[in-house]
Amino acid sequence: MRGPIDRLSLQTKLLISFIVVIVLATTIGYLFINHSVKRAFSDFTVRSFTIQDQILLELIISYYRRTGSFDRVIEILKESPREVPVLLIDPDGKVVYSPDERYLGRHLSEEQLREGEPIILPNGDVWRFVPYRASPVRASLEEGFLKATRRALVLAGWAAAAAGIIISLFLLRHMTRPLRRLDRAAKRIAAGKLDERVEIKTSDEIGHLASSFNEMAESLERAEEAKRRMIADISHELRTPLTALRTAIDGLRDGLIEPGEKTYAALQNRVILLARLVADLHQLALADAGRLSIERRPTSLEGVIDGILETIGVQLEDSGISLDRSIEPGLPPVDVDRQRIEQVLLNLLANALRHTPEGGRIRISAEEDDQGQVSVCVCDTGPGIKPSDLPRIFERFYRADEARTSEGGAGLGLPIAKALIEAHGGRIWVENPDDGGACFHFTIPIANDGPPPG
Ligand SMILES: Nc1ncnc2c1ncn2[C@@H]1O[C@H](COP(=O)(O)OP(=O)(O)O)[C@@H](O)[C@H]1O
Ligand SMILES: [Mg+2]
Repeated sequence: MRGPIDRLSLQTKLLISFIVVIVLATTIGYLFINHSVKRAFSDFTVRSFTIQDQILLELIISYYRRTGSFDRVIEILKESPREVPVLLIDPDGKVVYSPDERYLGRHLSEEQLREGEPIILPNGDVWRFVPYRASPVRASLEEGFLKATRRALVLAGWAAAAAGIIISLFLLRHMTRPLRRLDRAAKRIAAGKLDERVEIKTSDEIGHLASSFNEMAESLERAEEAKRRMIADISHELRTPLTALRTAIDGLRDGLIEPGEKTYAALQNRVILLARLVADLHQLALADAGRLSIERRPTSLEGVIDGILETIGVQLEDSGISLDRSIEPGLPPVDVDRQRIEQVLLNLLANALRHTPEGGRIRISAEEDDQGQVSVCVCDTGPGIKPSDLPRIFERFYRADEARTSEGGAGLGLPIAKALIEAHGGRIWVENPDDGGACFHFTIPIANDGPPPG
């Protein structure tokens, strides 16, 4: 919810706090000074005894004898129409009567007490009677001083407030300038100018905000660029088979192409390719959204590998490529979605097959690694991957071969394999071993418990 404070600009908020602090400081200062000045000036001098004092003292003592307490004495003194400039001090040394209320409850100094006349009660308590004089000069001095202080404080308050406002305006303009710049840049980015950056080099919070802002803009720009490239790639990949289909259909209609088994098979092939491309794109879109459904079950990896080798066995033989299969004995079952891992292996083996020359060799191996996962490698004796292609090989639509040959896929096989392995919590990477060829590695988790693999 937006409170009234949220509606104010930063500048107004800071200005208000400056002023509140100034007003508080001057008020507190004023109260302190007022108090201490009053204390400092409210002193008195003990005067010497007069006849009247003597009479009063006698009276007090006789009153006390009659009533047995000083309460009545104090009452009478208070009711006296004329101020009686004396203090009555109780045995604790505290003033219990004084015509000037400021002295009530105060303790007198030893020296002042000595000047008074003790009244010693039968029970040993000592009360005192002290005549005093408050200097009239002091009283007027006090008034004058307080007035001057008050005026000075009000003036100082105004001056501080004015200085505060000027300084804060200056400071705030300085502080909020980068914020205004950030605001303008954010608006330009919102309007689609993704190459917008802010130049703020301060090392305060605003500087940090600015560098986070620039990072955000950078990643937005990269994402936008990737999206643009992706759309271009997709339309290119779709256009090639669609053009071929269209030409073939036009030819059939115009009688330029003979309708027959071979023609229909070729047409069907193109449609299958298109459907596969669309399915791959769909799978990648699901992976991006984190919605790839992975149905894990404890699975024997050896079973998966053997199943696949059986399917591609004929192809291997036809290409004159030998196969080296090495699976660690007693390999524990893995916790995977069998179909997805088959898809990954098929992809890697198809790539290896395509890049391995006749007489070459493909090696597939699986073993438990020291991190409690199973590590799988698919290596070949082909040309390997150019070092410059290594970092980009798992990008979508990336094909190392210069020409986009129709023989290969669209360059979506490795990105899909990466998405599938990562959805299993594993890792996939490639390296060129020293003895040539390419080696694709991936890891998948071991099934901890559960039923033994079927
Ligand atoms: N075993 C391999 N040896 C050499 N290059 C490979 C190998 N596997 C993949 N590549 C390169 O990586 C690119 C991307 O592979 P992939 O994503 O499977 O796409 P596609 O197979 O559709 O071309 C391939 O075009 C190829 O250039
Ligand atoms: Mg491939």
